[in-house]
Amino acid sequence: MAFTRLCQYSSTILCATGGLACICVVMAIVMFPGDPKVNIRREDVTLTDVEDYVIKNINPDNIRQTLRYLTTGTHLGGTEQELDMARYIGSRWQQQGLDQVHFVPYQVLLSYPSPTIPNLIKILDSAGQVVWVSAAKQKPLYAPEEASPDIPFTFIGYSAPANVTGDVVYVYYGREEDFDFVAASGVDISGKIVLARYGAIFRSNIVEMAEARGGIGVILYSDPEDYAPEGSNFVYPHSYYMPPSAAPFGTIKLLDGDPLTPYYPATESAFRIPEDEAPLPKIPAQCISYEDAWQILSRMGGPAAPEKWQGSLNVTYNIGPGLRESGWSLNLDVNNNNTMTTTYNVVGVMTGQEEPDRYVVLGNHYDAWLFGGLDPNSGTAAMLELSRVFTQLRNETVLLSRLEAPTVASVLCLGSRGVRNSRLCRVDRTVC
Ligand SMILES: *[C@@H]1O[C@H](CO)[C@@H](O)[C@H](O)[C@H]1NC(C)=O
Ligand SMILES: *[C@@H]1O[C@H](CO)[C@@H](O)[C@H](O)[C@H]1NC(C)=O
Ligand SMILES: *[C@@H]1O[C@H](CO)[C@@H](O)[C@H](O)[C@H]1NC(C)=O
Ligand SMILES: *[C@@H]1O[C@H](CO)[C@@H](O)[C@H](O)[C@H]1NC(C)=O
Repeated sequence: MAFTRLCQYSSTILCATGGLACICVVMAIVMFPGDPKVNIRREDVTLTDVEDYVIKNINPDNIRQTLRYLTTGTHLGGTEQELDMARYIGSRWQQQGLDQVHFVPYQVLLSYPSPTIPNLIKILDSAGQVVWVSAAKQKPLYAPEEASPDIPFTFIGYSAPANVTGDVVYVYYGREEDFDFVAASGVDISGKIVLARYGAIFRSNIVEMAEARGGIGVILYSDPEDYAPEGSNFVYPHSYYMPPSAAPFGTIKLLDGDPLTPYYPATESAFRIPEDEAPLPKIPAQCISYEDAWQILSRMGGPAAPEKWQGSLNVTYNIGPGLRESGWSLNLDVNNNNTMTTTYNVVGVMTGQEEPDRYVVLGNHYDAWLFGGLDPNSGTAAMLELSRVFTQLRNETVLLSRLEAPTVASVLCLGSRGVRNSRLCRVDRTVC
């Protein structure tokens, strides 16, 4: 495998990206000699040797303990708690004996809910009186820390702040064909609030299409048909499926990375486009739980949605527009705020012997919407154990074979921002 040969002698860059709850794609894991001997020949080292070494030396207890530590608090991007996480990752890499650890700052526009005014959805009667109001935060269900005051109000990242009132229309997964179907049914979404299920396409595109068709707001929920397929007894804390009171947080940015520096690293001196030209939606959006979506769906009027559009809540899903009771309406009040803040990539380097200026990159992001047990901290905990095994392997190899210690190499990963463009790790130097 040419690919693995190339990687073998290059430098390994470990990176943890802060900020934007971005997605990281691990592309491949590569090599290192298993049982290092003096005068080991590089040609004799197989991929299987490396896999065996890594698998034998990975200690699940270390991953478990790291994950426990990483999830004891919340780490919203750009906050002091996120910076603590960066320092922790950096100090672990220093202890493990990486050759360099850097903190690379970026100035980014991040979105936060108001600390004092929650994002709410209300059902109003014909006199404008509030009949029902959605939950401001998710309910604590199991661990005491779920009631932590650090948990932000439920929000969708980069939703425009606005307070809109109107009729509601159900658009299923909010794909183009779903909007077309609603239009073909004679329902115009212009001036309406769109209620969509999350789960088929990225939420940014749902909001983008709603806005393009004249919608004034978007409410997103996750239907139990998709997110609690084994029924209401098989949800958190009894299983990993979504409980009725959980809301699907997420971003509705239309491009990866910082919205004010599209396609470029968000360094301090970068050219920034004005915020109103940024690839961000202009209408408000909010996520709600399926127990709250039931409150809306169970009151909706208009024709029944097609059979396929019915979810597993115990109601007939109607398209709308509007609620059955005449004169009743829906109010969507979003109080998010975009703020410039600093976030850091933490970059750890193991220098290669033969091609030290070519890089193999492994990494993921470390900010979390809340505690981040699964996304991203399960990945961060695994990465910290992998870097420990790589440094241990290098230590052993150097001790046993000073003459010809082959160089460590590992993995290519793409954080969605920053690392590929940073001074330390230019994309044209990565080997895989
Ligand atoms: C938003 O509008 C609703 C309905 O008019 C009103 O009850 C609510 O107080 C408004 N919210 C804020 C923060 O002004
Ligand atoms: C339907 O679901 C709602 C919300 O979970 C619940 O309050 C209600 O009791 C259910 N009704 C029936 C008939 O099961
Ligand atoms: C947005 O948030 C920042 C930081 O919390 C705060 O300083 C600013 O006043 C807020 N702006 C608005 C319009 O709420
Ligand atoms: C590798 O060796 C260095 C230097 O002795 C040490 O600080 C580091 O903890 C070792 N790393 C591992 C994973 O054993």
